[in-house]
Amino acid sequence: MPLQSISSKKIIDSLSIIDTPSVPRASKTNFPTCEPSPASLIQPAPTVHTPTAPQGAESSVSASSIPTLTLRELADKRNIYIGAAGDASQFADPEYAKLLSREFNMVAAENAMKWQVLHPEPDRYDFSAGDALVSFAKSQQMAVYGHVLVWDYGYPSWVSEEERSRDAWIQLLCTHVKTVVSHYRGQIYAWHVVNEVVNNDGSLRNTLWMKTIGPEYIAMTFQWAREADPGALLILNDHFGEGLNVKSEAIYSLVKGLLQMGVPIDGVGMQMHLWLWGPPTSQELETNMQRLADLDLDVHITEMDVRTQLSSDSIEVKMAVQADTYRQVLAACLITKRCKVFVTWGLTDRYSWIPAFTGKPDVPLLFDVNGQPKPAYYAIRDLLRYP
Ligand code: G3I
Repeated sequence: MPLQSISSKKIIDSLSIIDTPSVPRASKTNFPTCEPSPASLIQPAPTVHTPTAPQGAESSVSASSIPTLTLRELADKRNIYIGAAGDASQFADPEYAKLLSREFNMVAAENAMKWQVLHPEPDRYDFSAGDALVSFAKSQQMAVYGHVLVWDYGYPSWVSEEERSRDAWIQLLCTHVKTVVSHYRGQIYAWHVVNEVVNNDGSLRNTLWMKTIGPEYIAMTFQWAREADPGALLILNDHFGEGLNVKSEAIYSLVKGLLQMGVPIDGVGMQMHLWLWGPPTSQELETNMQRLADLDLDVHITEMDVRTQLSSDSIEVKMAVQADTYRQVLAACLITKRCKVFVTWGLTDRYSWIPAFTGKPDVPLLFDVNGQPKPAYYAIRDLLRYP
């Protein structure tokens, strides 16, 4: 299959990219820029949550039966990151906090760094939830994955409902991105700079920013993020483009085009929200990851979970298939030298977003609702232990 499908060609055309592979990676684009918001707009020092149990609260997890050799120890030995997404409010449970820091060397901000949380009013930023997460990670020597600078979801009404000129939209986005990235400068391993910007048919998603700024918003956001924190990896994150399909062709063409423009993009995040049936094969994953790595990009597994709902199999069969799915994805990552991050979207089944989102029970993660390791945990641990 040709790497540049018709729809991905449309993406490149819409970015006015000329295919000139000799354009150097570090060259700078000439987009408008801005200064971060002044400190006076940032709420005073937050109360940082510490991992102590609230009085009388019952712990939801127990780390007692975790084997001695942890995922974190194995990942450290391999010099890779293994992470889970979470929110600081969950760290109040000491067993949860203990499990998280024992098993993972990275935590991803599930919600704490989204626009509606960080920037609820035009002239007010609230970093308390994000700061609590960063503070917890520091105290446990864990890396932080920043999520997310631009998404087409979760904006307060003051952002989406006001009419603005194109220049004013650019300034709004630029100031938000620079303020947030500057605030966390030096503390974030990688940022999801843009999230879910490609449709499943390979066209660019008609996001708020696409409508108001045009497709250049993608390149601009990467540039602003790099200006605000040259040390953080800048990632384009998306779902359903993990295997080989129209969407992954489009993502490949998009990032190749961005690199040719000199846009400072460091990698592609593969969300990896999967079901028990029909996950991409290891071969597809490896091929897709490797062609991105060949562009000199990192590849991260950023939001993995495996839904079990809508299957009539026994729980034993479901757990075995789920374990195999996790194993295959991690195997493809370990084979690809540029894949050094593997993050699950939540720590235990108690905190997964899927039941609330689908309205159906589900158990998609590595640990059950009580924090006990599942077959998927052992599958991953064994793979990390015996390559
Ligand atoms: O914090 C409020 C709480 O104060 C309020 O009482 C409650 C009432 O519904 O809502 C709480 O906020 C919820 C938030 O999760 C924290 O629990 C939001 O309603 C809910 O929409 C939000 O869902 C998150 C969703 O993104 C939308 O932002 C999920 O937790 C989160 O897992 C999910 O993550 C996304 C990634 O960002 C992008 N990729 C897909 C992934 C799954 O949808």
